Amino acid sequence: MNGIKIKGTGRCIPERVIKNEEFTKWIDTSDEWITERTGIKERHVVTTETACDLASGACLSALENAGKTPEDVDLLIIGTISMDHVTPSLACEVQKRIGAKNAVSFDINGACAGFLFALDTAASYINTGCYKSALVVGIEVLSKIVDWTDRTTCVLFGDGAGAVYVEADETRPFYMVQGTKPDNWEVLNCKAREIESPFAIRESYPKLSDHVFMNGREVYQFAVTTVPKAIQNVLDQAHLAPSDISCYILHQANVRIIQSVAKRLGEPMEKFPVNMMRYGNMSSASMPVLLDEIHREGRLEEGKYILLSGFGAGLVYGATILKW
Ligand code: ACO
Repeated sequence: MNGIKIKGTGRCIPERVIKNEEFTKWIDTSDEWITERTGIKERHVVTTETACDLASGACLSALENAGKTPEDVDLLIIGTISMDHVTPSLACEVQKRIGAKNAVSFDINGACAGFLFALDTAASYINTGCYKSALVVGIEVLSKIVDWTDRTTCVLFGDGAGAVYVEADETRPFYMVQGTKPDNWEVLNCKAREIESPFAIRESYPKLSDHVFMNGREVYQFAVTTVPKAIQNVLDQAHLAPSDISCYILHQANVRIIQSVAKRLGEPMEKFPVNMMRYGNMSSASMPVLLDEIHREGRLEEGKYILLSGFGAGLVYGATILKW
């Protein structure tokens, strides 16, 4: 049986905090609206930090937690939609910064499921025997791609990075379900930065936003219907019942989505840790940051099953079970 073990977790969060009240200085909103609709109370945003700073900080924190050095890393995969450069990948920059000289590095764009897709990819490579270890990162600097005058999106997001260090472990099976439903991908989009080409003819191209645009209701409906099915599918694959899972790490977009998933699975909210009240939706960084928090709080028990599930732009979704 193939498998992996998460041997260390880490995070790096920028210092600057924006509390809900601060938004009322420039947009028509309120702490009550944001708290009731999302559960979010505050989020962190970068001031001088780059994506490379945050991702490297999270990697070093995960390595220290695992008792490993950068030279121990065979594979470095970063899930992100807000890297510093179009090319090279953020992973290559981070590899140089932390001195992971034996690794191969690349990024994955899986939006809010980016960390999960990166973890699934790392586990799949490890299970083929190609590599023995990996650093898997979720990092976002969404503050540089949101429209700070659009109250329907800017209050939702935050910046941060989380990382895990994993190694092959045959005693810890790994199960995953992934999916994409691209039919109405426009409901959550952000155009790539581009210069005007003198040859480009774009009339038939869908109109996209220069900043993050989201039809919140559509994404909400997608999440509350797709996530429970994905979770059930991965439970079936592992021949487990919902009650066999000790902890559900879900993407931290909205506490109401998490409550709805818990209800559909018939599982108590105590099994669904939340941190969106302190960070907002950090897209691919949400799950690894939460994992790091609860790991360091001693809330994960050796040998117990945990389940991670995320969804986001694409529309994409995934659910993964592993043994802690
Ligand atoms: N403050 C006050 N009022 C607001 C705000 C705000 N910040 N934003 C919107 N409103 C208003 C709207 O204009 C609307 O007013 P109207 O009725 O007069 O038109 C009203 O509030 C209700 O708006 P809705 O969009 O219907 O509110 P809803 O209850 O759906 O909550 C939310 C919106 C929080 C975005 C919710 O739909 C949601 O969480 N959706 C899922 C988002 C998500 O999960 N994203 C994850 C993927 S992100 C990624 O991949 C990067």
